[in-house]
Amino acid sequence: MTPPTVTHHPASDTVRSVQVVEAKTNPHPPAGRTPKGPDWWLMMRAFLTQGKRIASFAPSSRFMARKIIDGIDWNKTRTIVELGAGTGPITAEMVKRAKPDAKLVVIELDPVLCGRLRERFREARNVEVILGDATKFGELLAERGIPKVDHVLSGLPLPSFPGPARDAILETSARTIADDGTFRQLTVMPLVYYKMYRRYFEDVRFRFVPINLPPGGVYVCRGYRGAAVPTK
Ligand SMILES: C[S@@+](CC[C@H](N)C(=O)[O-])C[C@H]1O[C@@H](n2cnc3c(N)ncnc32)[C@H](O)[C@@H]1O
Repeated sequence: MTPPTVTHHPASDTVRSVQVVEAKTNPHPPAGRTPKGPDWWLMMRAFLTQGKRIASFAPSSRFMARKIIDGIDWNKTRTIVELGAGTGPITAEMVKRAKPDAKLVVIELDPVLCGRLRERFREARNVEVILGDATKFGELLAERGIPKVDHVLSGLPLPSFPGPARDAILETSARTIADDGTFRQLTVMPLVYYKMYRRYFEDVRFRFVPINLPPGGVYVCRGYRGAAVPTK
């Protein structure tokens, strides 16, 4: 970030006020510094301060995390990308199952949550936690020399993204996922967006997860049709 210019304002209280403004607009410690508090508190605080961008006030339950990865063949899986990992409940379940030579690329936009992820998975050699924007995940993978992934798992609040950003994420997923791979999306509004995902994919299966706060589920999608196909 470009530092604020203070040389035109010699009064020292101007300098102080610039620093205060900076502290207010950037309340997060840099990713990597260890955030304090349990996961539920970090998610709750992120939800209370950022609302729609977080979309859920609690981390996914272990039932949700297991449901989103259900059916993945870990013997064949080389690379998975996870978008919007929060405090890492899904990452944790993947780490238990992924082969040591598989790569888990985990992208999170919020610096505090990213700090938690880095702390939590610092021993997991096959996890890379990226502080970054999931709408750019194609570029983030390309920078790492990853042309294809087996599955894309998304915890992003995709329905509240602007249309072009959502299109970009789903288009990049379709281009990046290997032939028998899937795009998997969690939700805390069961089935509400089924039609929306059907606009993008030929085959959309919904898996209900009652034991989650709030109850939710997972869309498992295959066969990308493009962004502009109307719902049947
Ligand atoms: C509903 S929470 C899911 C968190 C976690 N996957 C879970 O299951 O508990 C959505 C997460 O997406 C992240 N997020 C929102 N927009 C993002 C973006 N453009 N790029 C990366 N992460 C984003 C939020 O910071 C938040 O951690």
